[in-house]
Amino acid sequence: MNVHITGMGFGLPARRVTNDELAKTIDTTDEWIVSHTGIHARHIADENESSASLATLAAKMALERAGVKAEELGMVVMATSTPDYGAFPCSACLVQRDIGAVNAGAFDLFAACTGFIYALETARGLMLNDPRPALVIGADVMSRVTDWKDRNTCVLFGDGAGAVVLQASEQPGGLRHSILRADGKGFHSLYHEGGCRTPQTGPWMAAHLQMNGRQVFNFAVKAFEEIVRDLIARQGIALEAVRWIVPHQANVRIIEAAARRLDTGLDRFYMNIGELANTSAATVPLALEQLHREGKLNSGDTIILAGFGAGLTWGGTLVQWNPPVAGR
Ligand code: ACO
Repeated sequence: MNVHITGMGFGLPARRVTNDELAKTIDTTDEWIVSHTGIHARHIADENESSASLATLAAKMALERAGVKAEELGMVVMATSTPDYGAFPCSACLVQRDIGAVNAGAFDLFAACTGFIYALETARGLMLNDPRPALVIGADVMSRVTDWKDRNTCVLFGDGAGAVVLQASEQPGGLRHSILRADGKGFHSLYHEGGCRTPQTGPWMAAHLQMNGRQVFNFAVKAFEEIVRDLIARQGIALEAVRWIVPHQANVRIIEAAARRLDTGLDRFYMNIGELANTSAATVPLALEQLHREGKLNSGDTIILAGFGAGLTWGGTLVQWNPPVAGR
């Protein structure tokens, strides 16, 4: 049995915030942000939007494109670090309710910016036991955990959701290899207080994320290189045989540095960070969906999805794009 991506969808807040708008409230410039990150704008959720509401938009679109009814789903796996509720219920249950996936299980998976990669492999594994279609979502509203007075971090992030439908088939290809890694010793490079480690003194999400940008940068470049080298070795191919690498969209300079370490050009790296910024668990499915929507993904292409982020966590999936039905 092979597992294929047969439909993709996205959910983005309507509100688009440019760098110039940010420069009205913090000491920054469009030039600094673009030259240091590649980001021009980001979408920011309004008070009625959340990880679950954006995920629901993405999920409905992915299901329609795959030609799969919500009641056919066996599982909803949602990667998020910004759930609608603090400890419970999981946001996947809210999505399951709102799309009408009445026969499915649902749970959240929490691996920060690597979350979608972890969720994809988790769902694939679950489908060996229950081969019904699965819905895999990456969704985050990073604006809710960002300190909007801290220019070092707030310019980097955006809000959004991406979803894919997985279907089992005898058709060759699909999700081929995955690597999932973690190094908790590096947690202090990027973290968010506000959990249950200590007694609560305020609202769950009142804390802001803390980041050491240089440490994250250095980790991300090395992790990214490891993912790509490991996956092509497992598949027994050279990098030249990979048509697209779809990385976590954290910073253009991370992608450029990884490309240099891999001794390859940027033409096989897909980037949409300029308009969407870093949407954490949503970047990889949002980029994959856009790549497909732009008609750049062809049957037979070998692609690598790569994620890295807080935890520290990192991981990747090698896909032979050959979907049996709607995803073509
Ligand atoms: N506007 C203007 N100046 C700024 C801004 C800003 N928004 N942010 C920082 N600066 C200033 C700093 O204060 C510093 O000033 P100083 O020299 O007077 O002290 C100067 O710019 C340079 O700061 P650096 O931290 O040295 O800048 P650097 O070149 O390292 O870039 C950045 C910072 C973009 C954060 C980089 O380290 C990076 O991309 N790190 C990765 C972080 C990341 O991607 N995080 C996302 C979450 S994790 C993930 O998704 C994997």
